[in-house]
Amino acid sequence: MTVDSDEIVIDVHLTTQDPAVVREEIRNGLLSSPRVLPTKYLYDDRGTELFEQICKLPEYYQTRTEFQILATYADRIVACSNANELVELGSGAATKTRVLLDAMDRADQLNYYVPFDVSEGIVRRVSQELSEEYTDLHIHGVVGDFLAHLEHIPDGGKRLVVFLGGTIGNLDDVVGPAFLSSVNEEMASGDYFLLSVQFVTEVNRLEAAYNDSKGVTAEFNKNMISVMQKLVRADFDPDAFDHVARYNHADSRIEIFLRSNKRQTVMFQDLDLKLALEEGEEIRTEISTKYDRKRVEHLLANAKFELVEWYADSEELLGLALAKKP
Ligand SMILES: C[S@@+](CC[C@H](N)C(=O)[O-])C[C@H]1O[C@@H](n2cnc3c(N)ncnc32)[C@H](O)[C@@H]1O
Repeated sequence: MTVDSDEIVIDVHLTTQDPAVVREEIRNGLLSSPRVLPTKYLYDDRGTELFEQICKLPEYYQTRTEFQILATYADRIVACSNANELVELGSGAATKTRVLLDAMDRADQLNYYVPFDVSEGIVRRVSQELSEEYTDLHIHGVVGDFLAHLEHIPDGGKRLVVFLGGTIGNLDDVVGPAFLSSVNEEMASGDYFLLSVQFVTEVNRLEAAYNDSKGVTAEFNKNMISVMQKLVRADFDPDAFDHVARYNHADSRIEIFLRSNKRQTVMFQDLDLKLALEEGEEIRTEISTKYDRKRVEHLLANAKFELVEWYADSEELLGLALAKKP
C-alpha cells in the first residue's frame, strides 16, 4: 500500500502477479484458435492516452452519448442509490465520472472515490486531479486486474459501483457473467451497481467507430505490439501488421485484430515461442459486444442483481442499467 497524502491512498496489486502466470496467459492465447491477446495489455500509459483521444473522435459516438445520459440522470441515480462512496471499475481517465461526483457533491453525499484500473499511471493521475477538484474527497485508488483482484476493493460506506464505457462488452460470454457475479459478491446488500452497455445499431456506424479516419484506433490496436515487445521480449514488427475491425453478426460484436500483412515468424523470447504466421492471419486483441435490453437484464439477473431503472438516449445507442444487490 502507498499512502500518497492525507486524501489519497493507492494500492498496487499487479506487481504481486506471478510472471509465469502472465507468460502462460499470453502463450495460451497466441496458440489458441482464434489467436488472441488479452485486451488489458492495450492499456499501458500510451494506450490509455490513445483511448482518451479515441473518446473525442467524431466517429466514436459512445463517449458523448454516455456523457449525455449521465448528465440527464446523475441526480436521480445518486438519489436512488443514496451512496456516499463511488467505486469505479476500469476507471480510465474518469472523465464522465465527474458528472456522478458532482451529483453526489450536490446531494452532500460525496465522501469516497475508488478508481480501479489496470493502468497505474492513470489511477495516479486521476487520483491527483480529483483530490484537487473535490475538497475533502477521500480517494483510495486500486491498481489491479478487475478479473483477479476485486477482493481488494477497500471497505467503505454505502456504495455505488460503476462500470462505464461499455467495458462489459470487452468480456466474452464466459468471462462477463463470472465477472458480474464476482462484483455482486464483493458488494453489500443494498449497494447499487451502474452498468453501461452499448446497444446493437447499424453496422456502418459501429464499424466506423473502430476505423476512424485519423487512424487513432489503429494506433491504439498496434500499441499491443509495443507492449508485447517490452512485456515478453517479442520481436513483433508493427509495420508487418494491419489494424482490422469488423462486426461479427452472429455474436453481435465488433472484433479487432492485428492482421499479418506477410508470411512471417515472430519470436517471443520470454515465452520460448516462435510463432509462424501466414499472410492474412489474424490475432484478436479486443471484442466489443453490443447488447439489447433483454440480454442485459438476463446477465444482471444471473449475477443476482435486481434491476431498478434503465436510462438510455433517444436513439437507443447506449444504455445504463441501475441495479441493486438485494
Ligand atoms: C473501454 S475503457 C473505459 C474507460 C472509462 N471507464 C470510460 O468510460 O471512458 C476500459 C478501461 O478498463 C481498464 N481495464 C481493461 N481491462 C482491465 C482489467 N482486466 N482490469 C482492470 N482494468 C482494466 C482499461 O485500462 C481502461 O481504462
